[in-house]
Amino acid sequence: MGSRERYRSGARLYDALSAEWPVYRIGRIEAIRMLDPQPGERVLDLGCGTGLNHPLLHAAVAPHGRVLGVDRSTEMLAVARRRAERRGLDSVRLLESDALELDAQRVVAELGGPADIVIATYTLSIMADPAQAWQRAIAAARPGARVAIVDMQPPTGAARLVAPLARAFAGFGGADLDAHPWRLLDRTAVGVRGRSLRGDHIQVRTGALPMTPALPDGVTLRPLVPADADQLAVLNDAAAPAVPVTPPADLAELVGIAGLALGLERAGRLVGFVIAMRPGADYASENYAFFEARGVDHLYVDRIVIAASERGASLGAVLYDAVFAAAGAEGRREVTCEVNLDPPNPGSLAFHERLGFRSVGTQATKGGTVTVSLLAAAVPGATAASLDGGATS
Ligand SMILES: C[S@@+](CC[C@H](N)C(=O)[O-])C[C@H]1O[C@@H](n2cnc3c(N)ncnc32)[C@H](O)[C@@H]1O
Repeated sequence: MGSRERYRSGARLYDALSAEWPVYRIGRIEAIRMLDPQPGERVLDLGCGTGLNHPLLHAAVAPHGRVLGVDRSTEMLAVARRRAERRGLDSVRLLESDALELDAQRVVAELGGPADIVIATYTLSIMADPAQAWQRAIAAARPGARVAIVDMQPPTGAARLVAPLARAFAGFGGADLDAHPWRLLDRTAVGVRGRSLRGDHIQVRTGALPMTPALPDGVTLRPLVPADADQLAVLNDAAAPAVPVTPPADLAELVGIAGLALGLERAGRLVGFVIAMRPGADYASENYAFFEARGVDHLYVDRIVIAASERGASLGAVLYDAVFAAAGAEGRREVTCEVNLDPPNPGSLAFHERLGFRSVGTQATKGGTVTVSLLAAAVPGATAASLDGGATS
């Protein structure tokens, strides 16, 4: 019997016969604990089977978050659907698809945005091409998304006495105990952490997807100094109204009080920059004041500007990578910023959404002439704040 047929005919008995409680439950609990899902986050559960992860994930992300379980077995999904209905797991959606042909756009549509978390428990070792399935899954996730793989290998040490049993059991489920799919994280994630459970039989790995591609050829990143102010003003004012027109003297002052001020240089000329404030800065800005009043430890991006000639080269993402790295190194919980709603800036809103930012408020500023959406994104690896997705003040 092939593994596809096994999960078709065995779906109804899967929970009872899969040694979930005596052996395998601990693996999913540990992975979800390490991922630390937050209210409002979107989770892709690859090869979700009967949805044993779903009560745990729902409890963490509800009420605004969403869990999308993907599996190729109609019968396993039917059990998952019944579980969700019976237990009121209204954040759970289910999608029937072969993981090797998973359509990332469809996943993003079902989740209402790119995934913040991708998890695959006891499933990649069953698939014919785990690397392809994993690549397709993470293609539906945002940069910096947290990821987890839980899978099996033969037990070691004293527990190797039960290795033949484990092999027989895994073989019945169609798993290849020599596949070691968690190694995919070594190539696709950063900050990989691991746990080994049940005599090494269960391997848990978590990490985060990189924030950005590497710097393009010929571009360097360096700290800004107040003497850059004239060049900054040219770049800044060319980007208005997305950022306020600001004289060089004020930009020099901003660089002086910034917690982080970085410039991108090509051939000796600045082609982009970011200026960000730590909490407690002596900075009179209505939007900074909003986030300070919110009380969450944050790194506030006052402005991020890329020269028109460099747009499309991922330089904005490069700068945000540096911002998130600095926020992570300083132990901050969020990166915050605002994007104009009026005058509208849909391109910037979509860009920030892809990076995992959510709106935590709106406000009219500059005497009512500009309305902004106030955005926050959890810093990967930090114990994220509760982002109340879509709320407005
Ligand atoms: C052992 S079960 C694990 C289910 C669940 N992740 C868990 O932790 O209980 C493996 C699941 O992987 C699914 N599966 C196997 N190959 C697949 C593929 N190529 N695409 C989608 N699902 C697949 C099976 O249908 C089955 O539901």
